[in-house]
Amino acid sequence: MNQDEKKRQVAEAALDEVRHLLDSKTPIGIGTGSTANRFIEVLAESKTQILGAVASSKVTEERLSNHGIELLDLNTTGTLPVYIDGADEADPQLNLIKGGGAALTREKIIAEASSQFVCIGDDSKRVDVLGTFPLPVEIIPMARSLVARALVELGGNPEYRQGIVTDNGNIILDVHDMLITNPQELEFAINQIPGVVTCGLFAKRPADILLLASQGNVLKFVRDA
Ligand code: A5P
Repeated sequence: MNQDEKKRQVAEAALDEVRHLLDSKTPIGIGTGSTANRFIEVLAESKTQILGAVASSKVTEERLSNHGIELLDLNTTGTLPVYIDGADEADPQLNLIKGGGAALTREKIIAEASSQFVCIGDDSKRVDVLGTFPLPVEIIPMARSLVARALVELGGNPEYRQGIVTDNGNIILDVHDMLITNPQELEFAINQIPGVVTCGLFAKRPADILLLASQGNVLKFVRDA
């Protein structure tokens, strides 16, 4: 089974997982990336009734619109019953690294605003310790050097992501060489640096359910309460 087939399979499993929550009055959150894109396709093809979706990026907004799914404003929906999105890495506690697609800030906002966060991917995303994937950090442009120095102090090796402006008009530093043994502590420490909008660690608000396509099966992991 190739990567694309795995993404499709896990997207179908995600719809099965959340279908009981959905009806024509239900708003949902949908993330960004190739796996979230498969979920949008599966959702549209299934003709499952929802009120509409809050998107974590402009790219996802466009995809949703192209599939005839209503776009919703998080300021009017209130708490979302469910948010479906991919990740770049997931550890056994369902802490995540996200932001490979530069949408981490809106992703974190929607995750925080959702009762249930269902994270989807293939089995390559599962790690014992986060940090092999460089940690994305969204930054106000004038603070780039200041934040980079502070990230070095924290033990990382930040690299400016060339040519990327986020949907919020900011830039991204990708932090290499961090073995993230305490994700909550590091998330808090990075988010305290002036000029950081947010980092791509999802540990304060991890996933609740992780679905990973693997060898023809979908593995399900549920976060300990
Ligand atoms: C977007 O900013 C990211 O957080 C994505 O969720 C992440 O990069 C996963 O993308 P894929 O589904 O394309 O692997």
